[in-house]
Amino acid sequence: MDFKDKIVLVTGAAQGIGAAVVRKLCQYGATVAALDINETAVKQYADSFNNNCRPVLPFAVDISNSEQVSRSVEQIEKKLGPIEYLVNVAGILRMGSLLSLSDDDWQATFSVNTTGAFNISRTVGCYMKERRSGSIVLVSSNAASVPRMQMGAYAASKAAVTMYAKCLALELAAFNVRCNVVSPGSTDTAMQRALWTADSGVDHVIAGSLEHYRLGIPLQKIATPEMIADAVLFLLSDQASQITMHDLRIDGGATL
Ligand code: NAI
Repeated sequence: MDFKDKIVLVTGAAQGIGAAVVRKLCQYGATVAALDINETAVKQYADSFNNNCRPVLPFAVDISNSEQVSRSVEQIEKKLGPIEYLVNVAGILRMGSLLSLSDDDWQATFSVNTTGAFNISRTVGCYMKERRSGSIVLVSSNAASVPRMQMGAYAASKAAVTMYAKCLALELAAFNVRCNVVSPGSTDTAMQRALWTADSGVDHVIAGSLEHYRLGIPLQKIATPEMIADAVLFLLSDQASQITMHDLRIDGGATL
């Protein structure tokens, strides 16, 4: 895959899957605009790459805020040049039964996971449509297609992302812009570790050991963030030039 000198915007870039995507893109020669709500973490992460060529530039942005999103995209275009690839990874998980979930948990989940995906891909998608070139990958979840206890808000927000991405792909296809989804299963990151840790505060009905999660996967292994990043880069790249509107599940067969 060749991303040499390409401008790529990645959200949720400070840790976990987003950080792995940034790392791989840099290995393939991309210049990355790294967006995250955690200003300190994203600056530190970007600094860890920076030598003289500064391939990673950090931006502190809350993707649920459409004004912040359009302002930062404008800045990136001015500073780095045309954004050719977009990867939206940022997301949050608020656990809880649907019948007792707070307004805040429901709204925050949809604001970040669903509206955030809309904000960033609408803004960047407009530029791509105008230039008749671009590729977008949105990170959803295998929870979008299989009901889970205490994950109702998260699962519904991700199901909306998956369908939104397909509709966006349809609208953009005639303009030579592709849009695909990756839907990971259990992946070894801070978000997932909260579910494996007994004292994480997560309800005992859903919390379980790492072994419990691993044994629920036919391939019997938890994904690493790099495994998800490999799939993201493939769908993003020109090697997937005939693939759009696709939802690629990466969960070791857990939901097949
Ligand atoms: P993580 O919690 O390790 O990292 C998420 C990153 O997104 C953090 O750096 C956080 O600061 C950032 N972020 C959160 N809200 C934001 C906002 N409003 N604006 C900008 N940045 C924000 O999570 P992880 O595990 O790396 O997950 C990444 C994506 O993959 C999420 O969308 C998640 O739903 C999805 N996913 C993760 C799975 C897993 O097992 N880890 C499984 C399926 C999907």
